[in-house]
Parts: sequence; structure tokens; C-alpha cells
Amino acid sequence: MAQVILIEDNKTLNDLISVNLTTYLGVDLIQRKNAQDALSLLAILPNIDLIITAEKVDSEKTGEVLSQYIDSNKLDTGLIVLGSSAVAQNDFTINIPNGKDWEEVVHASAKILGINENVLAKKAVPDYIAVPVRYFLNLDYVNCDVFIRIKKSPTEYQFVKRIHNGDTFSKESIKRYMDQGLENFHIDKDAYKNFTIFLSNRLVEKIDSPNMDETKKIQIMGESYDVAVREIAKLGFNSETIQLTEAIIHNMVKNFEKSPEMSNLLHKVINSNTGLLYQRCHMTSVVASEMIKNLKFEDPKAYEKIAYASFFHDIMLADREELTKINSFDELEKANLSEQDWDMVFNHAMEAAVLLRKHPEAPTGSDEIIKHHHGATNGKGFSNNIEKLPDLSKIFIIAHHFVLELVRFKETGGDPKPVTEELYKRYPSPDVAIIIKALEKTLKKKK
Ligand SMILES: [Fe+2]
Ligand SMILES: [Fe+2]
Repeated sequence: MAQVILIEDNKTLNDLISVNLTTYLGVDLIQRKNAQDALSLLAILPNIDLIITAEKVDSEKTGEVLSQYIDSNKLDTGLIVLGSSAVAQNDFTINIPNGKDWEEVVHASAKILGINENVLAKKAVPDYIAVPVRYFLNLDYVNCDVFIRIKKSPTEYQFVKRIHNGDTFSKESIKRYMDQGLENFHIDKDAYKNFTIFLSNRLVEKIDSPNMDETKKIQIMGESYDVAVREIAKLGFNSETIQLTEAIIHNMVKNFEKSPEMSNLLHKVINSNTGLLYQRCHMTSVVASEMIKNLKFEDPKAYEKIAYASFFHDIMLADREELTKINSFDELEKANLSEQDWDMVFNHAMEAAVLLRKHPEAPTGSDEIIKHHHGATNGKGFSNNIEKLPDLSKIFIIAHHFVLELVRFKETGGDPKPVTEELYKRYPSPDVAIIIKALEKTLKKKK
């Protein structure tokens, strides 16, 4: 069986490439974090057939390092570099400029590994679809058979049924699979659609169940947020993802309205066992809503617009959490990104706004807040000249900035920064000062 090393920190792309290479090409896939990590493996396993890598990992020029190593050690290893538009300097490298084009990656891999493309065409749809094991933590039974995948021979996998259609199971049994390192269950492709409907419905039911305490509810909202964002990034909107986002957003608004104290709610969110992106989304929504309340803003839909904007504003970066922390042009330049990542960050506000317009339930105006969330009128890049933006956009920018600093402070510790002073300096216009004052007021109130 061909042995392939994959270095790609974009989770969705990594999943797509892994699933397709193992399903279509039957390769033995080995994950590595960066070139240094891969070199230590090559030292003991020099017969690797192919390495697929992102052009850069952080500041390491991964593609270049590996190319030089293969060259100077005269290895018989092919190299595919994702996101590089340079012309390959040797006969073992293929550069794929659009690193997101996973189909191209599979084709190029087939070529390097000498696998007939006709075989590929026949297998165009995998029979089983991988589903993260953690999704099952929110279920107690399933509406389809669930399999685990076992390697049978160098090129074949066997799918062994572990949960039968209709069976009930405990959280503990799912946790045991996770403890053993199992990442994915597999579901028959014909059953997959019904499964996602079933999962979404169960999550919606849980979110909406009236007697759940707030901590538990925040937990389930966080998990649902992860499912929704992943499915939307993969398939766009469909009735299930729409229903699921509706339930989460509706609950964010409801939770806020019945919470007497903002600090209490923020505290629960930031200390919950949920993903960071969800926490920031929820907290931005809470802080911005509290500011709206203080400003006595007359727009009955304001909370809802803010909740939608919070949910979707960074969806284009959802699987690259570190990129969502970039909040100025200066930080973007200092982040040392590949051209493709740089573009992705530069355009993410505009692209998320375009995506949200496809959501039939999203209130008009929430797309505009998303487009403006880094200050630029056209949603490209960053700007501090926000005084001409609509008030809701300004409120969102200030709340967003505050939450980013709050999370940064929680992560890195140290002395708390005087965030509002920074904000007055960064946005010196009197129009914005009114908004920053509203933030100050909400912060003082909690003491
Ligand atoms: Fe953000
Ligand atoms: Fe953003």
C-alpha cells in the first residue's frame, strides 16, 4: 500500500483530502504537523511514496524544506505543495495553486502513485461517509446503521457495524471510542442525508427544551454551533442547517433577554466547555445587545440582527481559529501568512456577508453588519474610519473588539488592558465615543 504523509492544518481540507485519499486510492495516510515533524519520520521511514503539504506552516517554509530534503537525499518520494503557484523546480514536485481544490489533489496523487484514473471515476462517490464520533455525544439512539472502518488488506477496508439502526447507546460508550482515539464513525452514503436531518433535529429539540439549566444549554449550543458551521462550510445552507442556526440564534436572543446580569451570562459562556469561536460569537452578541439596551436604540430587530452577525461574521475562517484573532491591517501583515491565507483573511467579511444573504431567515441588515465588522465599508481589509458606518455596525465593531481582548486576557493572563482607552484612541471620532461610552456603562454596571 502506498504510504502518504499529509501536512495540512486546515481541518476541513485535511478531512476532505484524508477521506478521499484513503477511500479512493486506498493509501496509508500519516498525519504530520510540519516539515520538522515529517523529517524525523523520513529518517526512519525513507520509503514514503508521497508527501502532500501546505506551502507554509506558520513561519516554516514547509514545501521548500521538504523539497530540499528529498532532493539532497535522493529519495524516491513525490511532493505535492498546496497553495503554491510557483513553477516546480524539479521532476518530483507538483504545485497546486488552489490548495482548496481537493479533487485536483486526489488526481495529482493518483498520477504520482501510478493509480489508473478510470478506477477513480468508477468510485466517484464513496460508499460510506465519515462522521466525527463526537457528534454522537448528543444522541442516545440513531436512525441508521453506524460502522467503524477497519483495514482489511493494503487496498481494502472493511466496514464493521457497531451500532444498529434504532439502537440506544450511552454517552459513556461513545466516550470510550473517543478515548481509544477513534475520530470518525462511518455511515452508508444513502443514509447520510437522513442522519444529518436526524442529528439536527435532535440538537434543535435539546436546545429548545424548556427545563434545561443554563450551563447545560450553553454547552449544547456550543456543540450545535460546531455542527452547523461545519455543515454550512461543507454543503451551504439546507433546511436542516437553517433550522439549527435558527434554534441557536433564537436561544442566544432569548437567553440574553431573560438574563438580569450580563457579567453572569458572559461568565457562564467563557467558562463553558465549548469551542472558542462559539464563545466569542455568543459573547459578542451579548455585549453588543447590552450596549443596544443602554443606548435605548429603537430597532425591534436589533438583537436579532446582532445575533445573526455574531454567528456568521467569521464563518469563512471557521476552521482556522487563529486567523479570526487578526483585528487590524498591521496584525495581518505581521501574521506572515501565505498569499492564499492573506486573501482569505482580507476578504472574509465581504464573503461572509454574501453567504448570509443566501440564508432565508436572516433579517435584512445583518449582512451589512458582517460586511463592516473590521471597519471597511466594502468588507475588504481593515479600517479605523468607522464614524460613517451605521450605528449597529459601530456597536458590533466595539463589542467584537472588547470580546477579542477579553478572550485574549483569559488565554494569556497578565494585567488586564484598559480596553476602552485603547478604543478611544483607535476610533477618535465623537460619534464612536458615544458607542464606547455605552460599553463602559455596561462594564461598570456589573460591579
Ligand atoms: Fe471575529
Ligand atoms: Fe472577522
